[in-house]
Amino acid sequence: MNKNLLFLTLPFALTLGSTFPERKPMVEPAPLKDSFKGKFRIGAAVSTATLRGQEAGVEPIVRRHFDSVTAENAMKPDAMQPREGQFTFDDADKLVAMATETGAEVVGHTLVWHSQTPGWFFEGKDGQPLSRDVALARMRAHIKTVVGRYKGRVKEWDVVNEAINDGPGVLRDTPWRKAIGDDYIAEAFRAAHEADPSAILVYNDYNIELDYKRPKALELLKKLLDQKVPVHAVGIQSHWRIENPPLAEAEKAIQEFSALGLKVMITELDMGVLPSRYQGADISVTEGMTPEQVAVMNPYTKALPDEIDQKHAEKMASAFELFLRYRKVIGRVTLWGVHDGGSWLNNFPVRGRTDYPLLFDRSLKPKPAFFAVQKAAGS
Ligand code: XIL
Repeated sequence: MNKNLLFLTLPFALTLGSTFPERKPMVEPAPLKDSFKGKFRIGAAVSTATLRGQEAGVEPIVRRHFDSVTAENAMKPDAMQPREGQFTFDDADKLVAMATETGAEVVGHTLVWHSQTPGWFFEGKDGQPLSRDVALARMRAHIKTVVGRYKGRVKEWDVVNEAINDGPGVLRDTPWRKAIGDDYIAEAFRAAHEADPSAILVYNDYNIELDYKRPKALELLKKLLDQKVPVHAVGIQSHWRIENPPLAEAEKAIQEFSALGLKVMITELDMGVLPSRYQGADISVTEGMTPEQVAVMNPYTKALPDEIDQKHAEKMASAFELFLRYRKVIGRVTLWGVHDGGSWLNNFPVRGRTDYPLLFDRSLKPKPAFFAVQKAAGS
């Protein structure tokens, strides 16, 4: 009997005792990563609670099914350097240790971002605006320490996250940009490359597959490449919903980004089933609503109708069929979470909802989407 079967049969045997006939054990599906071998890596974002052993059952799924892991929060600036010069590596170390055991690749997420970055990064002396020199020094020190610590072990870094503006203009006016200037992006990539010359460096953003933002991403990336900035890949976050976006837009983005000579990573895939007025992933957005409105916006609190579950599986499968067609240019596809109960979409953009965006359900069982994706991969 193989080890997994034994693991699953044991609890039944213990609870049922010898007076009952042995119940048929649930056979675990084959590891997803095996289905994608030779195609691209398949990843999951791992929560800090999972890393701390506070979510029984989730870590075994990560170990079994995924050959790429991203820290959902544990490697963001607020987790890594809460106060200047005080670094906290415990959770991140756990992720790297787990990946070393399973042979998964670790993605570092993320070095330079305007969210989840402590205020001290952007404070000037005596209430003065932050100077370029100090901002640059802080950014470089952070990158050097964090990338340096995991040199050779974290193979890929989301260096800059969400620098493109949703409104007019190309660049978002972040505190980094305000203090350093437009070249903060180039400087971040240079610093990361210096700290680990063999790491794959990614520019990561949401909605850059969509018509309104794709041209801006192309403009930014082209400029960086023209200036010989060490950017190697573009990360399309892919916080999608079953209704949106049309996959044709994602296909266009994959074609146009890869034509620049960049690898494309699908970095934060989830497929929400709930209605939303906001289509994006700016984590500062919250849709304010009355309790009555929330009820309308949160229709599946008890269970998900089969028909929607099926739709979700079909859209996931279509997305993976698209990724597989472009497997030569896609380095990995990462799901933003493991199971529906742990998804950030339960609290974004509306707090306290019940969404069903991932491949495992709230009781950690593989969903129709899991099997549809496995089938799309050809096994
Ligand atoms: C989200 C996490 O999933 C949440 O747990 C956290 O509260 C906020 O951030 N784009 C990103 C991710 O690049 O880091 C965000 O993750 C989701 C949007």
